[in-house]
Amino acid sequence: MGRLQDKVCLITGGARGQGAAEARLFHAEGGKVWITDVLDPEGQALADELGAQYRHLDVREEDAWGSLLLEIVEADGGLDVLINNAGIFRSNRLVDTPTDEFQLVMDINCTGVFLGMRTAAPAMIASGGGSIVNISSLAGLRGSAGALAYGTSKWAVRGMTKAASVELARKGVRVNSIHPGLIETPMADELGVSPERLTRRTPLGRIASADEVANMALFLSSDESSYSTGSEFIIDGGLNAL
Ligand SMILES: NC(=O)c1ccc[n+]([C@@H]2O[C@H](COP(=O)([O-])OP(=O)(O)OC[C@H]3O[C@@H](n4cnc5c(N)ncnc54)[C@H](O)[C@@H]3O)[C@@H](O)[C@H]2O)c1
Repeated sequence: MGRLQDKVCLITGGARGQGAAEARLFHAEGGKVWITDVLDPEGQALADELGAQYRHLDVREEDAWGSLLLEIVEADGGLDVLINNAGIFRSNRLVDTPTDEFQLVMDINCTGVFLGMRTAAPAMIASGGGSIVNISSLAGLRGSAGALAYGTSKWAVRGMTKAASVELARKGVRVNSIHPGLIETPMADELGVSPERLTRRTPLGRIASADEVANMALFLSSDESSYSTGSEFIIDGGLNAL
């Protein structure tokens, strides 16, 4: 028996990075995994390798969320787990942030999570409950100078996790947020700073692998975390303890 045996799991931004690590682990733990992303060749290749499903889903598209949920419920009988993982990073200070860049980051990182929760919750309630895991960031717990839009979006993810968790608790749906520090994925590469420089202040002294975040997501998606909702789960090598 896997830790997610027969649970139907939807992962956004699952074609690469942390989402792909979660897709692999959830599949290995017996989950019925639906990978979604806008990177179709990568997502389809991963799904083919695992024997999972891949669908194109831009998390900003309300109608696409609705059609996908209908398809999943029809194919697999319901939805148990949603990982709102898709996100983008943009590096700009407050006074240099163009309005369209701020809006783009908010649309993907924030509205995308809202649409995912709003679409998935009724399906989860109908099938007796579920677990929603929203990927925020350490930037959703602290002031991240130099990434104003990103930090704003990740604080919003943390806030909507709290509100949704309280609304959905008595309906059997748990909602938690994960707050990663620096994780070795294509997004970290985009920072353009050497890992040595970035991890100099990190107590554990290294960057994390995507698998380490996937382990946390697995715990929160499984029944092992049955008494956790509305909580923040930090995975940052000790940075937030400083
Ligand atoms: N890498 C880090 O250091 C780090 C730290 C803290 C939080 N995070 C968060 O973790 C999550 C995963 O990021 P990652 O590190 O794996 O980076 P990544 O760039 O490898 O993965 C992000 C995925 O999201 C997808 N995506 C982007 N826009 C999308 C859209 N509009 N619709 C659907 N999918 C879209 C991308 O195609 C990509 O596959 C993100 O929410 C990110 O903000 C990352």
